[in-house]
Amino acid sequence: MSLGDFVAFVGYLGMLAWPMIAIGWVANLIQRGAASMKRINEIMKVPPEIAQPERSRMPQEIRGEIVFKSVSFGYEKSEILREINLHIKPGQTVAIVGRTGSGKTTLVNLLTRLFDPTFGTVLIDGIPTTEWDLEKLRAEIGMVPQDAFLFSTTVERNIAFGRGNARREEVEKVSGIAQIDKDVADFVNGYETRVGERGLTLSGGQKGRVTLARALIRDPRILILDDALAAVDTHTEEEILN
Ligand SMILES: Nc1ncnc2c1ncn2[C@@H]1O[C@H](COP(=O)(O)OP(=O)(O)OP(=O)(O)O)[C@@H](O)[C@H]1O
Ligand SMILES: [Mg+2]
Repeated sequence: MSLGDFVAFVGYLGMLAWPMIAIGWVANLIQRGAASMKRINEIMKVPPEIAQPERSRMPQEIRGEIVFKSVSFGYEKSEILREINLHIKPGQTVAIVGRTGSGKTTLVNLLTRLFDPTFGTVLIDGIPTTEWDLEKLRAEIGMVPQDAFLFSTTVERNIAFGRGNARREEVEKVSGIAQIDKDVADFVNGYETRVGERGLTLSGGQKGRVTLARALIRDPRILILDDALAAVDTHTEEEILN
């Protein structure tokens, strides 16, 4: 072996060192990725309990009649709702009153099929909710949840979230109804104001009214306010209800 060959050999050896380290590194990453993927797949494979019906039925035009037929429900063993019978006519406004933990939120969750009743049927426009197309059912129901959830983006996008393609005028219109427009006008950046993580930079009442505006922008046939006005003063509450 000439001296030149030897120098070249050592040089090549040096060049090989890094790729060899990299191979070990990549192999390690692939192994870890595969292990994570296996765990994710386990969860993804679980079929959802609330499933889209195989053959869905829908009324021609949604009126918004709600019937609870001897509905009972319990989360695990204990029964929360027993033999609930309700008939709400289209256009009717109903208030459900009960002490905390009595099952008001549970009752409205049955309507949107977050859970299915243990016994009995929930019917909307005469069709059991279990036979409705799941997506259409939820599209018809505007829900203002008890714990308002806002995204870390602008006020406008938080409101328009209810309907992806909503224009600014529509956002302003529903904001007027939800009485959040005056608050927004006071913000330095108006509708472009960024809301902190989970609505951190808004007051409880403002959060509630932004979520109300979000529900209203979809113009739902059925509107559910789950304690949505709890954090709003009585004067503002009356203005909203009017
Ligand atoms: N996901 C759940 N899993 C198990 N139990 C639950 C669940 N959600 C609520 N519960 C229980 O069901 C009962 C009714 O709760 P629900 O949230 O419907 O009450 P509520 O009438 O809305 O009360 P509040 O006025 O405080 O909002 C409570 O006793 C609660 O502990
Ligand atoms: Mg509740």
